[in-house]
Amino acid sequence: MPEQRRVSLREGLLSDLRSIFSPRMVLTAWIPCLLITTLHYRTGAQHAWVHDVLRRLYYLPILFAAFSEGVRGGISLSAFASLIYFPHAFLSIVGRDPGDALEKGLEILLYNIVAVVAGLLVDRERREREKQVRLAQELSAALEEQQRIESQLIRAGRLGALGEMTAGIAHEIKNPLHAMKGTAEILRDVVPADAPERRMLDLHIGEIDRLAQTAERFLTFARPAPADRRPLDLREVVGRVVSLVETQARKDGVNTVALPYAGKAVPRVLGDADQLTQLLLNIAINGLQAMAPLGGGELTLSIGRERGGEKRIFVVRVANTGPPIPADQLERIFDPFFTTKDGGTGLGLSICSRIADQNEGVLSVRNLPGGKGVEFSLALPAGE
Ligand SMILES: Nc1ncnc2c1ncn2[C@@H]1O[C@H](COP(=O)(O)OP(=O)(O)OP(=O)(O)O)[C@@H](O)[C@H]1O
Ligand SMILES: [Mg+2]
Repeated sequence: MPEQRRVSLREGLLSDLRSIFSPRMVLTAWIPCLLITTLHYRTGAQHAWVHDVLRRLYYLPILFAAFSEGVRGGISLSAFASLIYFPHAFLSIVGRDPGDALEKGLEILLYNIVAVVAGLLVDRERREREKQVRLAQELSAALEEQQRIESQLIRAGRLGALGEMTAGIAHEIKNPLHAMKGTAEILRDVVPADAPERRMLDLHIGEIDRLAQTAERFLTFARPAPADRRPLDLREVVGRVVSLVETQARKDGVNTVALPYAGKAVPRVLGDADQLTQLLLNIAINGLQAMAPLGGGELTLSIGRERGGEKRIFVVRVANTGPPIPADQLERIFDPFFTTKDGGTGLGLSICSRIADQNEGVLSVRNLPGGKGVEFSLALPAGE
């Protein structure tokens, strides 16, 4: 027999023995069985009715054993009861149950039949229950997945429509701006350097530049560059984000912690390193901004491994100890232009969301239990 099978056989046997002699079995089956036997052996032959009662009392521990450990428990108890009762029933050397021999024999047979039938029923019921629990778990996982996909689709739809509109507007603004800047520069060249109109034209050109830059940013948001996905080690991306954010964090009184990766497999994914760095950096900066009113706190980055159905998944978590996000805002923070900050564009998280999509990732957020902060998770399928 191969070594592995021998070991698993031994382990199976040990686990069977453990369940048959569990504290519950000892209390509800083994001890009562021994007590009944003791009483039985000590009862004189003249008390025939007591023998009748005691003989039937064995059914109780047998049924308890079958209910708690199924066929295995029931048969262990019925075999034990049969063996221990047999000398008292048929051999005169140890006192004797005065009952009819046929009745006593039938009783012993019945102990075992009852044990097998009750045990089989209990085992079947247990298997059914386990199957139902498994089905319920699968169903709830499927529902969760469906909800996730639905919200992703809604988000993607909103982003797509808004992106198209923004791109259109930004594009339309850029062309006239270009012409306006050109003409303003021609005018500036003909206005003497010391004339008051020259200063006005400089201001005019400066504002045109600022507007062009904003239009450019909106255009980048609306028409993002495609992801250049290559195999990468998530630890490197997280390391880069930590070094980019550390100086600002220190200034804000925030302690940045990158938890060491504890898994065995290299956290390798297929992704665009620059985009993923941008995503995590955005989230980290949001975290710093959220902790600013508290005058400091902790920003924790970690990488974990999970199983999402058949797929292996790596998850990067960025948590901060800032105030929780109110429930009504939690749904909206990924929406473009949703912001609670003075001077915020509200584009940060919607860009992150799009980057996650482009890299086949899923970005989610939750308030940590007990109001301990906010955690963003980016789940990415493992790459070969
Ligand atoms: N870690 C966080 N803790 C609490 N609230 C957050 C956190 N991250 C984001 N938010 C909320 O989500 C909103 C949207 O964030 P997003 O990054 O999209 O835009 P923003 O930070 O407001 O603006 P911008 O990114 O242009 O500076 C924020 O205004 C804030 O209310
Ligand atoms: Mg932001």
